[in-house]
Amino acid sequence: MNIVLTGGTSGLGYRAAEVLGKEIKNKIILIGSNKQKGETSVRNLIKETSNNNISFIQCDLSSISEIKSLADKLRKFKIDILINNAGALFFSRKESVDKIEKTFALNHLSYFILTNILLKYKVIKTGGRIVNVASGAHRGVKLDFTNLEMKTNYNGWIAYKKSKLCNILFTKKLSELIKKNKMTVNCLHPGFVKTQFGKNNSGLASLAIKFLMNFFAISVEEGAETIVFLATDKNIKNITGKYFYQSKIKEPSIFAQSQKDADLLWDISLRIVKNKGLTLT
Ligand SMILES: NC(=O)c1ccc[n+]([C@@H]2O[C@H](COP(=O)([O-])OP(=O)(O)OC[C@H]3O[C@@H](n4cnc5c(N)ncnc54)[C@H](OP(=O)(O)O)[C@@H]3O)[C@@H](O)[C@H]2O)c1
Repeated sequence: MNIVLTGGTSGLGYRAAEVLGKEIKNKIILIGSNKQKGETSVRNLIKETSNNNISFIQCDLSSISEIKSLADKLRKFKIDILINNAGALFFSRKESVDKIEKTFALNHLSYFILTNILLKYKVIKTGGRIVNVASGAHRGVKLDFTNLEMKTNYNGWIAYKKSKLCNILFTKKLSELIKKNKMTVNCLHPGFVKTQFGKNNSGLASLAIKFLMNFFAISVEEGAETIVFLATDKNIKNITGKYFYQSKIKEPSIFAQSQKDADLLWDISLRIVKNKGLTLT
């Protein structure tokens, strides 16, 4: 199977690549922003799995033009499984090269844009699967469509929680739209997992994450299980639009079940991207 895995160069993505790579027939393309990290990951994964069909494409997924050129490079492939996993937490407000708040750009818009361009290019096979790595952190927040990019009152943790709510609403809406193509899309919470997550920040908050991870987080092996399950398990090949935790369907928050918000987020995301020069429909 041909697998594209964003954020496959560390943490959950790396572990998922390791498990999927052990199936020698799988071809895996890892996406990450750091070239050196990507190349090292590929070398290590090939050594660990004896699968030579693992490669890396560099892309800053917070940049619309870089996602567009990534999709152009992927155009020659036929993809069985797309795993949208790359994500980060930014304690202080930053903007992407497109002048979009970075948590929203990377954690939500990268899933939205990459998936939509690949669908437009028809490179995801019939029967293909899309897996979106969301988070249990989506609970306790609601989207504010008048301030999606938190131009005022920015709080990094809240921005992160909202971006993960976007992942679930995106999954819900996308599942309706791709049913006719016989594709599925599901999302998941991996648990609180010991990874590199949060380490791009400095200061007390970053130390706090490190501390909490050391004491409370589960292993990356355990955390990645639901990603691999959603990507490969034969029993769920007809299940779509669901949120999973520990390889079981779980009800997300009430706000993540809102059809109105799923529709609105879709339309606004299309509009934001169009205003930046990329037409997806
Ligand atoms: N760890 C947890 O407890 C936890 C819990 C719930 C959900 N999650 C979700 O799990 C996913 C993976 O996180 P993780 O914990 O495995 O974190 P991680 O170890 O920090 O890995 C993040 C991955 O994303 C890539 N990435 C980050 N920014 C990028 C960018 N601008 N462009 C392209 N790639 C980028 C990183 O590669 P580069 O450094 O090369 O860019 C890396 O491969 C995220 O979506 C996160 O929200 C994690």
